[in-house]
Amino acid sequence: MKVIVCKDYDEMSAKAFEVMAEVVKNNPKAILGLATGSTPIGLYKKMIEDHEKNGTSYKDIKTVNLDEYAGLDYSSDQSYVYFMRHNLFDHVDIDLKNTNIENGKAADRQAECKRYNELLEKMQQDIQVLGIGSNGHIAFNEPGTPFGSVTHIVDLAESTIKDNSRMFASIDEVPRQAFTMGLKNIMNAKKILILANGKNKAKAVYGLVKGEVTENVPASVLQLHPDCTLVVDEAAAELIK
Ligand code: GLP
Repeated sequence: MKVIVCKDYDEMSAKAFEVMAEVVKNNPKAILGLATGSTPIGLYKKMIEDHEKNGTSYKDIKTVNLDEYAGLDYSSDQSYVYFMRHNLFDHVDIDLKNTNIENGKAADRQAECKRYNELLEKMQQDIQVLGIGSNGHIAFNEPGTPFGSVTHIVDLAESTIKDNSRMFASIDEVPRQAFTMGLKNIMNAKKILILANGKNKAKAVYGLVKGEVTENVPASVLQLHPDCTLVVDEAAAELIK
């Protein structure tokens, strides 16, 4: 794993943008695997700035997102569909028809997982952006998720519900379940770009980089990926120095 330690969030976002820009410039038809959460927002801002200033086009880019809360659809400002439009898609020239995310409102959840897996089989990510949960989760693959997992429905861990409650009016509003790409779907990406900032991520970053490769720390599977770059700020890198 390549590790790039940055002084702060802004430098982390700028370095992440360099990695992303190289993929998009080399292949204007690239398939981007995208993530939500507060961590990649700075990266998305840089992509928007670059689109506005330098005209980098997303018109032939396709995207697949990691995960979505079960029960929320795009009309909810807490849904990840809304997040992606608000933080990226509405500000670049991407065709929304080329963007993909699990349907949080699907009536048949198993059929929705199957649909998304079939889609991912046809859409290998040229790059997959990831954040990391404080318990070492990636996407919504909580500790204990098999490395061979594909898209599935997850019961969110208490720590994840608590961490994510800061985005909701109250903890009671945080959905208890989500759709998520599995670890196998993530590992299938040609390139992985994982970002982490802040001291509450230091333990998870240790597990990602230096800990045992174990299903108890889902992010540790990335040690087995042939092209994985971690861009991390100093606070999150505290335990790997
Ligand atoms: C959520 C998302 C993850 C994300 C994590 C960390 O659980 N499903 O994809 O990496 O939160 O979020 P943040 O970047 O806000 O710390």
